[in-house]
Amino acid sequence: MSYPYQIKSFEQYQTAYQKSIEQPEEFWEDIAQHFTWQKKWDKVLDWEFNTPKVEWFKGGKLNITENCLDRWVATQPETPAIIWESNNPHEASRNITYKALHQKVCAFAQVLKNNGAKKGDRICIYMPMVPELTIAVLACARIGAVHSVIFAGFSAQSISDRVQDAQCNIVITADGAYRGNKTIPLKSVMDEALVNCPSVEKVIVLTRTQMAVSMLNGRDCWWDEEMKLVEEKNDYSDKAEVMDAEDMLFILYTSGSTGKPKGVVHTCAGYMVWTNYTFVNVFQYEPGQIHFCTADIGWVTGHSYIIYGPLSAGATSLMFEGIPTYPDAGRFWEVVEKHHVNILYTAPTAIRSLMGFGKSPIEGKNLSSLKILGTVGEPINEEAWHWYDENIGKENCPIVDTWWQTETGGILISNLAGVTPSKPTFATLPIPGVQPLLVDESGNELLGNAVSGNLCIKFPWPGMLRTTYGDHERCRQTYFSTYQNLYFTGDGCLRDEDGYYRITGRVDDVLNVSGHRLGTAELENAINMHSGVIESAIVGYPHDIKGQGIYAYVVFGEIHTDEEHTKQNILKTVSKIIGAIAKPDKIQFVSGLPKTRSGKIMRRILRKVAEGETENLGDTSTLLDPSIVAEIIKGRL
Ligand code: PRX
Repeated sequence: MSYPYQIKSFEQYQTAYQKSIEQPEEFWEDIAQHFTWQKKWDKVLDWEFNTPKVEWFKGGKLNITENCLDRWVATQPETPAIIWESNNPHEASRNITYKALHQKVCAFAQVLKNNGAKKGDRICIYMPMVPELTIAVLACARIGAVHSVIFAGFSAQSISDRVQDAQCNIVITADGAYRGNKTIPLKSVMDEALVNCPSVEKVIVLTRTQMAVSMLNGRDCWWDEEMKLVEEKNDYSDKAEVMDAEDMLFILYTSGSTGKPKGVVHTCAGYMVWTNYTFVNVFQYEPGQIHFCTADIGWVTGHSYIIYGPLSAGATSLMFEGIPTYPDAGRFWEVVEKHHVNILYTAPTAIRSLMGFGKSPIEGKNLSSLKILGTVGEPINEEAWHWYDENIGKENCPIVDTWWQTETGGILISNLAGVTPSKPTFATLPIPGVQPLLVDESGNELLGNAVSGNLCIKFPWPGMLRTTYGDHERCRQTYFSTYQNLYFTGDGCLRDEDGYYRITGRVDDVLNVSGHRLGTAELENAINMHSGVIESAIVGYPHDIKGQGIYAYVVFGEIHTDEEHTKQNILKTVSKIIGAIAKPDKIQFVSGLPKTRSGKIMRRILRKVAEGETENLGDTSTLLDPSIVAEIIKGRL
C-alpha cells in the first residue's frame, strides 16, 4: 500500500500547491477518489464566506468508519490500529489490530443502539485515554451519532454547559481516570454535571479504576455488561450508517474571546479527506510505521492525529494514557524505545517542561527508531526547537511545526517532513489548498514578503468548520465578519523575506496556556463566581514552560482571613467552574482596574505590567483614575 497523493519532493509540492489554487475542485476530486464512498459526490465545492456556507463533496454518501476500519480489515486485518500504553509503566500495553478494532466498534455501535441512540443524536464522551475512548468515538460515527468529546480535566460545570448546549441524550464515561499519580473520579464529576442536564437519558460507564461509583437505576449501565450482551449473542451488525458528506460528524467545544465556549462543528467527508491528506503528507507516513501523538483525544489534535488521520490511512497509532513526567521525566523516551516509535508529535510546552529535567532522563534510552518529530499548539521558541532537534532527533529527524486550530480540522501551515524546508520557529508554507493572507487592522491585504499582520484564509479547504452548534450567526460573527470574505484565524503572523509563515500568537482575548485555549472573558466569569470578588481582569504573560501564564487582577471585597487563603479559595472556584487547567498562575489584589471614562478596562496596561514593563505604558490620560496604575505597578507579582 502507498498513498498516490503523497508529495515526495519540493517540486511536487509546488506543482500540487499551484494546482490546488488554480483548479481546487479537480485537485480535491483526484484525492477524494482514493476513499471508500457509498455514492460519489455531485458537486465538489459550494461556498460563500459571508453567510458562511461551505459544502464539500455534496451529495456524496459515505461512512468515515468504513474508511478508518473496513477497508483496512479487507487488506491488512492483522496490522495494529492502536497500540496503547498505560499510565502505569507496569501495566501491560495493548495491541489492537484493525480486525479487532472493527469488531469492537461494531459491537459498541450496537450497544449505543440498544440504549436508544440513533443517527443525528449528540453523544457526550468523557473518558480517560484508553482504547475504549477511540472505540466510543468510532461507534458514534458508525451509527451517525454526533460525538462531543469533553476533555477529562473539565469540571462538572463545564460538562453541564456543553451537554446542555448540544442537548446530548447519551453520555459515555468511566468510573475514573489515572493521570500521573492522581486518580480522577470521572463518574462522580459527571453525576454532578448531569443534575442540570435533563436531556440525558442513558449513561454508559466503563470500568477503569474500579473506584466506587453511584449508578442511577434506569439511567446508568456498565460498558462491560452491555458489550457482553451483544458480543456473546453475536447480536450486532457490521453495517455502517449511510451518511451525507455534509452530515455532522462531531462537535468540539473551544474557547473564544467572548462568552462561553462554542461548539465547533465538523462534517464527515471534508474532515476525513483533510485529516488523511495532512497526516500522510506532513508526517510523510510510511505503512508499518508507529505514529505517536501525545495529545489527549479531548482536544482536536487527538481527534485528528490519533484517530481519524492515522486510521483513515491504515496507520498504527499509539495512544498514551499518562503524562510526560510520570513516574519520571523519561517516560516519553521509554515509550518511544519500547514501541519503536517512528513519528513523535507533541507540544512545545511538553518539550520545555522536559528540557527542564536536563539530559539524564534521555540517557540510555534508544531513540533510534525516530524518523520524524512534530510540534503543535503554540509557537515554539528557538531554544526548545534546538533541544528537541539535538537531544531527541539527534539532528537526524526533520521537525514539522504544524499550525492549525480546532476550527481548521487539521494542519493548515507546516513543512512536509524532509520534503519542504524547515526553519526553526516557523510553520513555513501552506498545505496545498490553503490560501493564507495577512491583513492590517483595517483589513487591507499586506502584499509581498517581510510583513506582519493578522492571519486570514481566503478560500475554503475541506476540513474547515461549518458552523458553531446551534448558533450559526455566532460562527459568522466570530470568524467571517472581522474581514470581508475572509476566514479570520485570531492569530498574528509574520511572512518573512523568503515567504515563510511564522505564527506569533493570538491577537484577540484568547490565551494559549500549555497549548490549551482559554478565553479571558470565560476566566473572568469563573473568578467572579467567587462570592468575595467584585471584579477581575485576566491577561496573559510569558511563561517559561506554559508559553503563556494566567495573570489575574482581582478587586476583592473584604479579605477576612489572610490573602494566601483567599487566593486558594479563588483557585478552587476556578477549578470548580472550568477545571484545573484554568487556574491563574498569579493573583494580584487591586483596589480598582484601570478603566477609561466609558468603563472599558485598559488591558494593554495590565498586559504590560504583567509582562514586567513598568515604564512606557502608553497614554494613560484617558483613564478615569490614573493613580490606579501606580498602585498596580507597586503590587506587581
Ligand atoms: O494560536 C494558535 C495556536 O493554537 C491556536 C489554536 O488552538 P486550538 O484550537 O486549541 O488547537 C490547538 C491544536 C491545533 C492557534 O490559533 N497554535 C496552534 N499551532 C501552532 C500555534 N501557534 C504557533 N505555532 C503553531 N504550530
